[in-house]
Amino acid sequence: MTGMGGNPPSSYPCNPCNPWSISKSVAVVLIILFLLSGALSIMGATAPERARQGMVVAQERLAAEVGLAVLKDGGNAVDAAVASAFALAVTYPAAGNIGGGGFLLHRSGKGSAVAYDFREKAPAKALPTLFLVDGKYDPNRHHASHLAVGVPGTVAGLHLAWSRHGRLPWKRLVIPAVRLAKEGFAISPALADSLRRELPRMKAYPASLAQFSKSGNPYEAGEILRQKDLARSLNRIAKEGPKGFYDGETAALIAREMQRGGGVLTLEDLRAYEAKIRVPVTGSYRGFEIVSMPPPSSGGIAIVEILNILEGWELGPQDFGSARTIHRMTEAMRRAFSDRAQFLGDPDSNPEMPVEKLLSKSYANSLRNSISQNKASVSSTNTFSWRNESPQTTHLSVLDREGNAASLTFTLEDSYGSRIVVPGAGFLLNNEMGDFNAEPGRTDVTGLIGTPPNMAAPGKRMLSSMSPTMVTREGKLLLITGSPGGRTIINTVLETIVNTLDFGMNAQEAVDAPRFHHQWLPDQIVYELNGLSPDTLRILETMGHKTKAVRSQGAAQVIRVDPKTGWIEGAADRRDPDSAARGW
Ligand code: GLY
Repeated sequence: MTGMGGNPPSSYPCNPCNPWSISKSVAVVLIILFLLSGALSIMGATAPERARQGMVVAQERLAAEVGLAVLKDGGNAVDAAVASAFALAVTYPAAGNIGGGGFLLHRSGKGSAVAYDFREKAPAKALPTLFLVDGKYDPNRHHASHLAVGVPGTVAGLHLAWSRHGRLPWKRLVIPAVRLAKEGFAISPALADSLRRELPRMKAYPASLAQFSKSGNPYEAGEILRQKDLARSLNRIAKEGPKGFYDGETAALIAREMQRGGGVLTLEDLRAYEAKIRVPVTGSYRGFEIVSMPPPSSGGIAIVEILNILEGWELGPQDFGSARTIHRMTEAMRRAFSDRAQFLGDPDSNPEMPVEKLLSKSYANSLRNSISQNKASVSSTNTFSWRNESPQTTHLSVLDREGNAASLTFTLEDSYGSRIVVPGAGFLLNNEMGDFNAEPGRTDVTGLIGTPPNMAAPGKRMLSSMSPTMVTREGKLLLITGSPGGRTIINTVLETIVNTLDFGMNAQEAVDAPRFHHQWLPDQIVYELNGLSPDTLRILETMGHKTKAVRSQGAAQVIRVDPKTGWIEGAADRRDPDSAARGW
């Protein structure tokens, strides 16, 4: 046998050979392969995962696979969502959680929809002035302290949804997460990067450093992350349900850490926590039905309000990305975000919220009439503004073979929440109190809002933007969507809807398409780098819009049912390389 570059053996098929003819045919084959791979990669760039029986799309691969295994095992959409959510608490620690909160929207195959609210609550000792020191607002207290921790809702919420819809035993849904925590899993390059970036912020908390580093040194991609304390906490939840979290050893460990760090959250707050069943927000858009999350999320109301405004204009595939479309969508966003700041908060503390008006077509008509077709409006700087919000949160979408659907968004607020791992319990606590307004009466351009609906108060839920959403037509499910991203969630979810319904995109095209965001104040269009052409930007700027590029926006995890073929399309958002769609 000759080595590389040696003479071919005598039995070689073209011996004696013309070296040119070999390299020519090799070249032709290579060119064909190259063109083919180009074509495939273009197709791959826009082709969703396709399946017939069910789909799970989540921000981390192992969690999506845990959900898919549940579906294959005879579980339904809620079973799979619960199992995937617990798995995310292990494999996606930046936002997957048992120490945070969120929302789950469920729609049965027969068409009834219900929303589960497991948003964190303010502890009983929280007051509107909680974030002031000697009368002065302290952002650290608000966002990065034990006072920033809200009463977690995730375990209660997942259990409530399961108790009403679940088919498989509770334990079967939690055990895969216990196993992932105990046996560990290989750290992806993205997780290794994110843990390395977080290390400095975790240094104040020895239990956090112990859990997410090797004695203060960062993990490398490919190394195994084992979380023994977390496995024990999850095991208590598997065996005892919510009692295994809100009472007994886990609750005592949380209360002890709160006391040690000067928090106000107590054992009584934990025991008193209840997830709630809410009536979803509904709207219509060009003959489609929109079903989304009601307050304490602002998401459903804002999305329906924006769609109601857009409905008055024709939008087709040829309009995607044009300056006129971006301008119209921006002006609709601007108005909905202004209303969000002015009116929305915890419905149990704000019974007077004008929800019906905000969702009405007549109100949208009046807002649309206030929009000039060639001139940007101006957001008034003496009304409402917000601090920059972390893009962390995570979303998963599930569809089962009977047509039951689950859309679940949950969060710790910031990436890795408060960065406080409960010693002995192995999970991160949220810093969701940061979603309350900062200080009564203080609204200014530095990003503070002081309006009453979302001031901290005992037992109150803080306003959210999380927007688990579904779209149906004539009772048939068409789309399950949701995303992380703080306030950008609302516009990311909106854009996945408009991309599919108006611009005719499949699920993956709708997720891949460049995004933009406007939130009233700061008064600027924030767009994904290279997502708007220089010509479009120039036209928008001539109209009076300020623009700002960012690297990326959101991580939508979307399922679409093709109405013509019945194929289920799953689209994971490749802005986060660990996202995955798994179907069967
Ligand atoms: N913490 C992000 C949200 O709830 O919108």
